[in-house]
Amino acid sequence: MSGTILAIESSCDETSASVVKNGTVLSNIVSTQEVHQKYGGVVPELASRAHQKNILPVVSAALDDAGVEKKDLDAVAFTKGPGLLGALLVGTSFAKGMAMALDIPLIGVNHMQAHILAHFIDDPKPNFPFLCLTVSGGHTQLVVVHSPLNMEIVGETIDDAVGEAFDKTAKIMGLDYPGGPLIDKYAKEGDPLKYEFPNVNIPEYNFSFSGIKTAFLNFLRKESQKDENFVKDNMADLCASIQYTLIKILMKKLIKASKDLNIKEIGIAGGVSANSSLRNTILEEGKKRGWNVFIPEFEHCTDNAAMIAMAAHYQYEGKDFEALNTSPNPRLKF
Ligand code: KG4
Ligand code: ZN
Repeated sequence: MSGTILAIESSCDETSASVVKNGTVLSNIVSTQEVHQKYGGVVPELASRAHQKNILPVVSAALDDAGVEKKDLDAVAFTKGPGLLGALLVGTSFAKGMAMALDIPLIGVNHMQAHILAHFIDDPKPNFPFLCLTVSGGHTQLVVVHSPLNMEIVGETIDDAVGEAFDKTAKIMGLDYPGGPLIDKYAKEGDPLKYEFPNVNIPEYNFSFSGIKTAFLNFLRKESQKDENFVKDNMADLCASIQYTLIKILMKKLIKASKDLNIKEIGIAGGVSANSSLRNTILEEGKKRGWNVFIPEFEHCTDNAAMIAMAAHYQYEGKDFEALNTSPNPRLKF
């Protein structure tokens, strides 16, 4: 069963809508909230208000761009979680209203599954089972993907997410939110081996990033006491070194899981997979190890509704619908 589906994403600080028809994405409109930059992180209350303001124009633009009218829709999908409750509520309520008015099914999508299903928006697509490293601002997971809707988490962070580690270390250096893309940019001019930061040994395929953030903070405090311009004068080397360390931690567990589970179809997903050095490192490592590496288009790595639409397409085929009295779940698992 295939159809035309409108999908809405509002889990964090991007308001986004997309239309998918028979598994092909026709539009993907993303409005990024800039209001959080000066606060050094997403302010939940401001995020909800911005979603409330943006959602109607974003949905209208997604329908226009796809050349689809409301009456042509077969279902409406929304991000059910995980994410910020107030932010999720905006998308959920909007989708419910549309489903009720148009008398069409409602589909609730897991945001983390959707990040992984971004691999199915464009060609080439991975074969099953594939191993996906999902790295975002809230999650760091190693997932074995058996089929589009059958996924198994084999490892995850025991504390901070890697995106959080990027953003928090950037904030310590005085950079704006989100710091990940800025570290990526400055790191291009820096020496990744200039400074070394400890990385603790965590069992199995799990990760830990809170210790490295503290080590980084302590190191900068000590150096800044000796030289108040230390951070400013060494920005590129600091960014390159912290980025190198974070990527090393990710790669170690990805390589271990790939070997132990004997899976050579490898993907990365989530906002941090937009990182240029992580993308290059995975490609290089993949060449050495005979992996088939899959990296979604840049625009499908950070939060977007096209990935929600792709997940909704598979759920629609399986008639996996939500009742109209559903509510979002900020800690939704799969
Ligand atoms: O998936 P995403 O857009 O939102 C969540 O679901 O969290 O991920 C956002 C995270 C932020 O921590 C941001 O700093 C990070 O992705 N990020 C990057 C890059 N682009 C986005 N981190 C490192 N390098 C990048 N180029
Ligand atoms: Zn995300």
